[in-house]
Formats: sequence, C-alpha cells, structure tokens
Amino acid sequence: MTRPLLIAPSMLSADFARLGEEVRAIESAGADWIHLDVMDGHFVPNLTFGAPVVRALRPHSARMFDVHLMIAPVDPLLCAFAEAGADMLTVHPEAGPHVHRTVQRIKALGKKAGIALNPATPAKMLDYLLDEIDLVLVMSVNPGFGGQAFLSSQLRKVEAVRRAIESCGRPIHLQVDGGIDPSTARSCVAAGADVLVAGSAVFAGGPAAYAANIAALRGASETGGASETGGAGMKTSAEQAR
Ligand code: DX5
Ligand code: ZN
Repeated sequence: MTRPLLIAPSMLSADFARLGEEVRAIESAGADWIHLDVMDGHFVPNLTFGAPVVRALRPHSARMFDVHLMIAPVDPLLCAFAEAGADMLTVHPEAGPHVHRTVQRIKALGKKAGIALNPATPAKMLDYLLDEIDLVLVMSVNPGFGGQAFLSSQLRKVEAVRRAIESCGRPIHLQVDGGIDPSTARSCVAAGADVLVAGSAVFAGGPAAYAANIAALRGASETGGASETGGAGMKTSAEQAR
C-alpha cells in the first residue's frame, strides 16, 4: 500500500547557535515536519533544550512541530510545551507511571499524542493506547544522542506496529527515529513506516546540502512523493492560528 512519506529532520543535528535560521533553511529544503528532541539529562544521558526554545522557534516555521519528549516525569511539563507551540507531543511509556493518563492530558491540551517505543520496549505496550494516539515512534537507536548506528532488530517491530495500526483502522502515523540514512530509510518504509526522523543524514554538509539530503531520503523509498503541506491533513498550531 502506498502512503505519503514524511521527512522530519531532527534539529538535534542543527547548528544550535543559529537555530531559527536552521529551522527556516530546513523548511525551504523540503522538510515536512520539524522534529525537536527534548532531553533532560536524567531520562536520557544528554541535555538539550526546553519549552522556551520551542516557543522561540515557533515563529520561524508553520510546519508541524513534532516534539519528542525524553524527560521524566513528563506530565508536569506537557502544558508548557503545548503553550510553546508544539503540535505533536510524543512521550515514552517509561517516563511516567500512567501513560494512558499522559495521553489523555496531551489530548485535553488540544495536541496530537505520540508514543515512543525504546529498542527494548515491545509493540505490545500499544495494546490499550492505539485507540487514543496519533503516532507511534519506533526508536531505532537508544534515545539520547544523534549519530548512532541503526538497530535493524527494530524493523520487525515496525512491521508489527504497522499490522496493529491497520487492524485498529485509525489514521496513526508510524515514525522511525535514529540512524536513518537513504539505505535504512528504504528498509523502514518497506516495513511500514510513513514518517522518518533524520538528524545526521539531513544536516551533513551544511545548508547547501539540506535539499539534496532530504531528497535522497525520499528517493530511497519507492513510496516517495511526500506531501508539501506539512503532512497528512494535520494542521499545525501556526496554521490553526490563521
Ligand atoms: C535520539 C533522537 C533522534 C536523533 C536522530 O535520541 O531522538 O531524533 O537525533 O539523529 P540521527 O539521525 O543522527 O540518528
Ligand atoms: Zn527524536
């Protein structure tokens, strides 16, 4: 089955001294979503940025802000990220005691909800969540750092999650994050992914290379031809504000 492929560059690999400019450059280069990796130095062994940075970036792009929260506890900060302009809030089940409640809170804030599965977290975790969520993120590296090697063991999980989504029948995105390059991108799409997060592969070579890097990821998959609208009919908060 052919479905539109969306590319979500991870700003983790951007030049942090010029983040606003980088977001604009990546959007003009063809990014569908902007993937923002929030790390707390506790849930994962690295520290990045918080809601104020998301807020500062919001005026720079109308694309979907896909905020990947690698923080624990996550519940107390959901509201801050929602107010900062996130469109999608993706959480790890391990980041709080009641993931179903976390999803309910995200939805109550009017945002899309995603669930991220670490490499050792089974797809079965989704059994009682699929009716509520908008995205499943299969981590193909352990979270915390860009530039790690793709774990091909996760392709089986991508296939299993695709089957679960099909039998659930709801429009849920299936995203893969970590070690994505044109070769692994092809495998992920073949396994059923429709959103690819890529940091190193998109930002390599600097701004002059972004468009070609994104095109290489799209071209790697036979399903190519991602939408030019920010993806799958979802409205970003910037679009909703218009
Ligand atoms: C890892 C992050 C990823 C990462 C991807 O914890 O969630 O988004 O930045 O980077 P690459 O594409 O370099 O593996
Ligand atoms: Zn991420």
